[in-house]
Amino acid sequence: MARLIDFREIADERGALVALEGDSNIPFSIRRVYYLYQLRNDVRRGFHAHRALEQVAVCISGSCSFLLDDGHTRQTLKLSSPHQGLCIDRMVWHEMFDFSSDCVLMVIASEHYDESDYIRDYEQFIKETLDAKHS
Ligand code: TYD
Repeated sequence: MARLIDFREIADERGALVALEGDSNIPFSIRRVYYLYQLRNDVRRGFHAHRALEQVAVCISGSCSFLLDDGHTRQTLKLSSPHQGLCIDRMVWHEMFDFSSDCVLMVIASEHYDESDYIRDYEQFIKETLDAKHS
């Protein structure tokens, strides 16, 4: 459900660089990039799953935590490295929390923004997870 990708860090005495490429170290063609910043530490975000969208989240500054739930298993993990990406598959309920004050969370997505791809109700998410299992 949660796959962490270690990106190659190209570092020298001048600093560090990470390159992300679609269909290469990002496992899909990139159609959108968005990022969250100035995040409040006492607020949780997300609370949804996507029917088709695949995403890779990279905490390019600071740190934050993720709760991931595929309808069977829940897990939490912390992202705190700009050279580590979290793959979030389709049909994974996710919540983000515990943002550090310097957190910048960049998300690389396989599709343009489409509100109809969101499942924002947890009961509906469980229903669609079970429906998919029995079809
Ligand atoms: P929202 O889904 O509530 O953010 P989060 O999952 O981090 O809690 O999105 C906030 C607003 O931004 C909402 O009105 C939809 C809009 N939005 C876009 O217009 N394009 C995008 O690519 C994303 C991710 C959100």
